[in-house]
Amino acid sequence: MEADRRLPSWAVARFYVTTPIYYVNDAPHIGHAYTTVTADALARWHRMCGDSVHFLTGTDEHGLKVARAAQANGLTPKEQADRTSERYKEVWKSLDVTNDDFIRTTEERHYKATAALMQAAYDNGWIELRPYEGLYCVACEAYYVEAELEDGNLCPIHHRPVEVLSEENYFFKLSEFTERLLSWYQDNPGAVSPESKRNEAIGLIRGGLRDISISRTSIRWGVPVPWDPEHVFYVWYDALINYATAIGYGSDPDTFGLWWPHVHHLIGKDILRFHCVYWPALLMAAGLEPPKRIAVHGYLLVGGEKMSKTSLNQIAPGDLVSDFGVDGYRYHFLRDQTFGPDGDFSYEAMVARYNSDLANNLGNLLARVSTVVERKCSGVGPKPDPASRLGAVAAEVYTQAADAWERIAPSEALEATWRLVREANAALEAAEPWKAEPGPQVDAVLGDCLEVLRLVALLASPALSRASQEIWRRIGLPGEVTEQRLPDAGAWGGYPGGVRVERGAPLFPRIAS
Ligand code: MSP
Repeated sequence: MEADRRLPSWAVARFYVTTPIYYVNDAPHIGHAYTTVTADALARWHRMCGDSVHFLTGTDEHGLKVARAAQANGLTPKEQADRTSERYKEVWKSLDVTNDDFIRTTEERHYKATAALMQAAYDNGWIELRPYEGLYCVACEAYYVEAELEDGNLCPIHHRPVEVLSEENYFFKLSEFTERLLSWYQDNPGAVSPESKRNEAIGLIRGGLRDISISRTSIRWGVPVPWDPEHVFYVWYDALINYATAIGYGSDPDTFGLWWPHVHHLIGKDILRFHCVYWPALLMAAGLEPPKRIAVHGYLLVGGEKMSKTSLNQIAPGDLVSDFGVDGYRYHFLRDQTFGPDGDFSYEAMVARYNSDLANNLGNLLARVSTVVERKCSGVGPKPDPASRLGAVAAEVYTQAADAWERIAPSEALEATWRLVREANAALEAAEPWKAEPGPQVDAVLGDCLEVLRLVALLASPALSRASQEIWRRIGLPGEVTEQRLPDAGAWGGYPGGVRVERGAPLFPRIAS
């Protein structure tokens, strides 16, 4: 990594991580939380690695969808947005999400940045006014293409005839970016992951890009076009710009220059076209670099279906937190859902994972070690053996876990981490220190297991936001887990020994299945 004088002296690298901004027509559900909790775990990991981290999430508050939801609820769009964005903030807080900023697209800073970025693209000649003729549903205030209509040219929502309507729209000349986008993909093989999604994006570009309409005159709930305020930007084109607004585009060039383009966008596969095709092109049009990385994940399915308001299959995070706790919640989604493909959510699988990994494996290790230390070592934790076999396992586990966090593969990182937990439990069972007389052999195995607990508290802390600190405290370590710096703190032998170990209540009480 090249040295950069603008970085804080302690920082190793910059890590700007974003979630999509969520529409405020709908309440937060576990699908939204999946992206946000993953981003949070990555932010926590990178902070421990000493990186300078900026973690952004927020809400997408313009557009017809929101205006309609407001109308249905008897609210103004702004009232609807205020209420729902507050709910998002509360849910993120309840899941220990450590975002550095929360952007709302109705904020003044966002209007300014959107105007500035679009003006730059306009001044560069990439936006122009064109007549647009389309099939319009007045009730929807939206255009349809013929293929979307029901027989008889009926609107699929209102089942009423659409009208041929023409208005003038601003168009972004996306078609002229085909070659530049393809060469960006070629030069940056890691920019979009996984590979299958990168190929999908390249396929969309190769399939032929059409210029896109980016403004509307038919609605007022949006960001006005700065050079022609009769128009507002179509919701997606202000939404994407949130990632630039939040780091000071158009108002604070130094901060913007510090973070851009070191951004890692986490998105669901439903919004690939916008992020992997339109967004890089729009940035190029404004004279900016495309994002460093876009990581695309699949859907969280419930009963094999995507959650939606209409299927009535949405699950609120709070319902699961009350059964599993914040740690149980976060651990399940990070460990059991592979980042990338679709995954099915099941309550039974969540119970099984909680009981096996948290209650039985980690919880038991802590309980057994602290009980035996109390009985055989007068409650004072012994030192680990520098040459222990577990030390070699720990080194392998560290390498695997660090690599997996870097690749945005939390399930692999946690799987590797739990190997260490299992091996420590096996070492305890082999040595049976609870049966032995106090002495060097008992000290050796307990010291090693305490060191494993220290390392697991560190490596699992992106997932276990609370339990990791509690383990740290019970095994007698001072300060905060999150203040430790990797890789140094991840090396075998850091447990000092000679500190008091506390035996407490079960950390993860078993859940009846
Ligand atoms: N507002 C746009 C995004 C604009 S970003 C510049 C939007 N919002 S959304 O609320 O509908 O969904 C946003 C994201 O929520 C999805 O891309 C995805 O990351 C996440 N998810 C919503 N439902 C999901 C599942 N069922 N499963 C996994 N993620 C899901 O699109």
